[in-house]
Amino acid sequence: QIMRKPIIAGNWKMNNTKKEAEALVNQFKPLVKDAKCDVVVCVPFTNIETVAAACKGSNIKVGAQNVSWADKGAFTGEISADMLKDVGAEYVVIGHSERRQMFGETDKTVNMRTQNALKSGLKPIVCIGETLDEREGSITEKVVTTQIKGAFEGVDAKLLDNVVVAYEPVWAIGTGKTATAEQAQETILYIRSVFKGLYGENVANALRIQYGGSMNASNASELMKKPDIDGGLIGGASLKAEDFSKVVNF
Ligand code: G3P
Repeated sequence: QIMRKPIIAGNWKMNNTKKEAEALVNQFKPLVKDAKCDVVVCVPFTNIETVAAACKGSNIKVGAQNVSWADKGAFTGEISADMLKDVGAEYVVIGHSERRQMFGETDKTVNMRTQNALKSGLKPIVCIGETLDEREGSITEKVVTTQIKGAFEGVDAKLLDNVVVAYEPVWAIGTGKTATAEQAQETILYIRSVFKGLYGENVANALRIQYGGSMNASNASELMKKPDIDGGLIGGASLKAEDFSKVVNF
């Protein structure tokens, strides 16, 4: 029996001013203090320092929602891994479907960002997942395989300890339409098998794989009961203290 510590992460997306961020964190901090899982909040760049200060001494870790593939220099609009660590980020979401769909993120750029995060000691939460068309066309497995091979090309097995993978079916994001626990388990089991092929049994069995997509207080416990689902990446429900704490305390 392999023990993987569950990890529940909020992805605030483009929400909250500093003031709102601080208020939200201070509200859920006491509600999640006895969590048995790792708790992370991935916040807008402008909130990282504020949220990290508010979370200091608590069990809540802070993450960003993107990171540059470069260390420094002429990359207007980008933020480096060192800059993120400097303001208190420990995790970073990479390759979210919103970035893939709206901001030109590709498997190649996801790979470059992931490599850079790992090199700098930031822990990437690498997102993959199929669209509705792809699921209906029965190519989900092919799509996630390509995404995984692309994202992890050249990434050494030794670094996989620091990686979290988030399986987010695009059709379930922000739609209120969750994958059933069975669908999520089935695809995540498949995803783990792809990692087995690339990195071997031990690495794949230790890898934490989250589900994301309309996960909330009412479906979290069912999803978390599945053997291969090791956590969640929570969008909408992470913006309300009560809802987020219920997911964390699944
Ligand atoms: O990254 C989390 C996410 O995309 C899911 O969003 O609002 O469906 O929980 P939501």
